[in-house]
Amino acid sequence: MRGLLVCLAGLLVCLKTADSHSMPQKDYDADSNKHDITNRLDDTSGNNSTSVPDNSSGMFYSNITVFFVRYVTRGDNKVDKSIYAHKNGKAKKVLEDGMAVSCCYLKSRAYLGNKDGIYVYDTETEKLEKYGNLSDNVIGIAKEDRSDDLYILTEDHVVYKVIEEGTKKIKVNEAEHAEQIALDWDDNLYYIGANNQPYVVASDGAKKIEGLPANPTSALISKPPITIEHGAWLTFGKQPYIIYPNATSEPYVFNDQEKLEHEKRNRDLDVIFLQFRNQIEE
Ligand SMILES: *[C@@H]1O[C@H](CO)[C@@H](O)[C@H](O)[C@H]1NC(C)=O
Ligand SMILES: *[C@@H]1O[C@H](CO)[C@@H](O)[C@H](O)[C@H]1NC(C)=O
Ligand SMILES: *[C@@H]1O[C@H](CO)[C@@H](O)[C@H](O)[C@H]1NC(C)=O
Ligand SMILES: *[C@@H]1O[C@H](CO)[C@@H](O)[C@H](O)[C@H]1NC(C)=O
Ligand SMILES: *[C@@H]1O[C@H](CO)[C@@H](O)[C@H](O)[C@H]1NC(C)=O
Ligand SMILES: *[C@@H]1O[C@H](CO)[C@@H](O)[C@H](O)[C@H]1NC(C)=O
Repeated sequence: MRGLLVCLAGLLVCLKTADSHSMPQKDYDADSNKHDITNRLDDTSGNNSTSVPDNSSGMFYSNITVFFVRYVTRGDNKVDKSIYAHKNGKAKKVLEDGMAVSCCYLKSRAYLGNKDGIYVYDTETEKLEKYGNLSDNVIGIAKEDRSDDLYILTEDHVVYKVIEEGTKKIKVNEAEHAEQIALDWDDNLYYIGANNQPYVVASDGAKKIEGLPANPTSALISKPPITIEHGAWLTFGKQPYIIYPNATSEPYVFNDQEKLEHEKRNRDLDVIFLQFRNQIEE
């Protein structure tokens, strides 16, 4: 099984693909309207798979950097992980052993987690630099909005707050056996713990988010779209939720305008995904 995590405008999208010829089969998605992207890609699996959809409509994503994390799953482990940056129609491998991207929104610095610590990638100059002097194997990363501090999730499922420009880390004891981490726009920290359950880290400890179904097939958390001021974004199975710092949750229902926007975004994503696939599958 291969997978792709796509990071755009704050949202994380996860695409899973079949092993042999790398055709997407299903995805878990940061917004439930988007699940047809991979089906449509499947439809082009004949001789026309290299045809690029029309992008004459002023493609929003042509000028911004979209990060892809590509990996192969073996057993429960994600191996052969690498981070690509896609911009202006070109995909470029940025890190060979990277897995974590702190989605930047309207900012040029993206923080990336690698096997040997933290890197910062400037999406304008396209330069990559080591950030600080930590050497942890980082599988999740989130940057605070109001400060330069970061949170990292290491391969042994421990969460650290990283301060002083990447030279010091403090263990977040409240977060136990974390699988994923995310911040909301107010810099509240959330994580997915054991059994796909999401938690919020409050001043008096971690609290399990209430009001969610018991046994989801998958869980994906990320910073929400910019239009959502409070709370983080959770995709539980196929259903999106907003989860709040007071440990409550509510299903997110898209209005008509949002549906249209998401359809447009899907078309844009189709274009970049095809470009990406054509370039890296060579
Ligand atoms: C390829 O595209 C052409 C023109 O759009 C179409 O006629 C043809 O049926 C397509 N072939 C496949 C295998 O999808
Ligand atoms: C598709 O490609 C194969 C081999 O490249 C070719 O034999 C076949 O005729 C093509 N089919 C179409 C519909 O173009
Ligand atoms: C691309 O981005 C740059 C800087 O972010 C901006 O100045 C420029 O106007 C953008 N170009 C287009 C065509 O959107
Ligand atoms: C479509 O995208 C490609 C690659 O980004 C670009 O070279 C081409 O000019 C675009 N076409 C239009 C009509 O915008
Ligand atoms: C990183 O740098 C800081 C400040 O220069 C130093 O105190 C710390 O020991 C270093 N940490 C490691 C892991 O090298
Ligand atoms: C929790 O926070 C949300 C969002 O701020 C709010 O709508 C809700 O009423 C709060 N619930 C409780 C029980 O405080």
